[in-house]
Amino acid sequence: MRLTLALEYWDDYIGYLLNGAGCLTSIDINKDICDIFKYRQTKEGHPNASAVICEDFLTCELPQDHYDLVTMIGSALQETGAYRKGLQKISEVLKPNAQFMYMDSDRYHKKENLFELLPELKFELIHIGEYNRFSNVSFYCMKIKKEEGV
Ligand SMILES: C[S@@+](CC[C@H](N)C(=O)[O-])C[C@H]1O[C@@H](n2cnc3c(N)ncnc32)[C@H](O)[C@@H]1O
Repeated sequence: MRLTLALEYWDDYIGYLLNGAGCLTSIDINKDICDIFKYRQTKEGHPNASAVICEDFLTCELPQDHYDLVTMIGSALQETGAYRKGLQKISEVLKPNAQFMYMDSDRYHKKENLFELLPELKFELIHIGEYNRFSNVSFYCMKIKKEEGV
């Protein structure tokens, strides 16, 4: 089971990658975005369409220790307005040893903010890529693992 937060073309792409290897749950709080996304995937005949949840990620009920992968990209975490709570929820829904792919912009959240929180979130940083070619749009991408046995 995979979960992506804030849906769009990214979710389309992950759905294609997973085709035959798993299904995807996509969450966004905005009803128009959810409706258009579902309509488009249906019209285009996406072979592995997402199960869409149109709710606030911070408060919606999701199974604990359930997902093999969670992705959060772009402005999604910033838009929730709850950095720590959002990351805590991601940790709770991931299975032990499962992975979190997190992409964010330096102008929203400094990567060092997360380094400090890793132990408390039961996260282990596996890899970080930093993309600073254009300083006004610099961003980073992290591969994070949920610790086992927690
Ligand atoms: C800029 S979009 C993310 C980019 C998108 N995933 C993509 O593929 O490019 C940010 C999304 O976060 C959603 N969002 C903001 N707060 C949210 C929340 N609390 N729960 C779920 N979705 C939220 C917004 O509705 C918006 O669609």
